Amino acid sequence: MKVVVLHGSARSGGDSDTLAAHVLDGLGGAGSHDVLHFRPSEMEIAHCRGCMGCRDGSGCVIMDDMQAVYPAFCDAQIVILAAPMFWGYMTSQLKTLFDRLEAVADATCFGGKDFVLLITYRHFFGSMVTWLERISAGFGSRCHSLTCRTYDPETGKDIPAHGIADALDEAFRLGRSLVGK
Ligand SMILES: Cc1cc2nc3c(=O)[nH]c(=O)nc-3n(C[C@H](O)[C@H](O)[C@H](O)COP(=O)(O)O)c2cc1C
Repeated sequence: MKVVVLHGSARSGGDSDTLAAHVLDGLGGAGSHDVLHFRPSEMEIAHCRGCMGCRDGSGCVIMDDMQAVYPAFCDAQIVILAAPMFWGYMTSQLKTLFDRLEAVADATCFGGKDFVLLITYRHFFGSMVTWLERISAGFGSRCHSLTCRTYDPETGKDIPAHGIADALDEAFRLGRSLVGK
């Protein structure tokens, strides 16, 4: 299967990346699938200008690193969003990438997929789950969400996701379920 991982965090190997790695393990590990990783914090991705230049179906007029994301996203059967919460929503890097997906916002590219939303958070994950559930349903795709609190309110300390066994197991099992195991 073709899998795209959108890494919303600028912290490579952080909490959301850890969950994504376990989903990939559940899918069967390295070499089982055609997996492409995109980390918008390390890419040149301009903000959507709302110019509607994409309305004629010719794609986005902005020639930057999104041009590599478009075909990968459209071809993928599974799209994994590794999404830490920043001020109650996805990071600005991931949001900027998603805004640019407006250029392919049709059933051909957004339909028939399994979206996997991995949310890591300290306090609150708000509307993120309903956001992607609504989009997935609207385009005939499925949305699988996993939320993981990476913070202990009693001690006031962060808990790295790699130490949260239940979440790692849930991520692995989510991956397995997507390949029918
Ligand atoms: C600038 C910043 C803003 C954050 N805002 C929130 C927030 O609004 N709600 C929340 O629950 N966690 C918030 N967090 C905590 C992160 O979502 C959490 O630590 C997450 O596990 C980090 O994932 P990562 O290691 O993949 O980046 C914030 C962290 C940072 C650095």
